[in-house]
Amino acid sequence: MAAFNEQLAQQIDAYIESLFVPADPALTANFENARSAGLPPINVTPNQGKFLYLLARIGGVRRILEIGTLGGYSTTWLARALPPEGRLISLEFDPVHARTARGNLALAALENVVEVRVGDAAASMTAMIEVGEPPFDLIFIDADKVGYVKYLGLALQLSRPGTVILADNIIRNGGVLEEHSDDASNRAVREYNAAIAANPQLESIALPMFKDKIDGIAISLVK
Ligand code: SAH
Ligand code: DHB
Ligand code: MG
Repeated sequence: MAAFNEQLAQQIDAYIESLFVPADPALTANFENARSAGLPPINVTPNQGKFLYLLARIGGVRRILEIGTLGGYSTTWLARALPPEGRLISLEFDPVHARTARGNLALAALENVVEVRVGDAAASMTAMIEVGEPPFDLIFIDADKVGYVKYLGLALQLSRPGTVILADNIIRNGGVLEEHSDDASNRAVREYNAAIAANPQLESIALPMFKDKIDGIAISLVK
């Protein structure tokens, strides 16, 4: 058995992708359009996308809230898990990201399933709470890391018992192990992990995942 290293991690990720994530023109175009529009390549990986899709399918979810759209890559995976009457709202601060995502979602024939709302995610969520938005079945947190704990508090107000709250980038290549990291995002995600662990309303686990570095997704179930 080979010792753990980055190359082995990449080979395993590619092996899993080759088995379970067939090439998909809409997802390939999504990534390429995002790159040519100058968006950073910080979307979830294909295997993580499949994982998000399966979680949504297993949960039979109909209403999804995503925090952090980028070019709509994870959005596409999640929206494809919805039944015909399902809806996804995705929150994005950057108008260029939102415009790119809308174009990509139209290419994937998801423009009637997904609404991309431009603005600060916390402000959009606060507005939803004020107008009595019905609870979501699944909420995926993937925007600025320093906002994660705030997004969790707002997400809980947009949840019901049984809602699944997911968060990306909860390992940060081990950055979350540092008790007093210089990196504000590391500190914020470490606080997020502690918050979901301590919240008596939640049952949670953090799942490490890897490609070129070790990161992961946290899963919380609202009791
Ligand atoms: N979920 C995407 C990746 C999101 S990257 C995918 O996997 O495909 C993080 C996104 O959050 C970026 O597009 C960034 O512009 C957005 N973002 C950052 N701060 C935000 C805020 N305060 N409100 C809403 N979106 C924000
Ligand atoms: C980064 C990665 C992400 O998945 C994200 O949501 C934000 C930033 C990064 O690698 O910098
Ligand atoms: Mg992310």
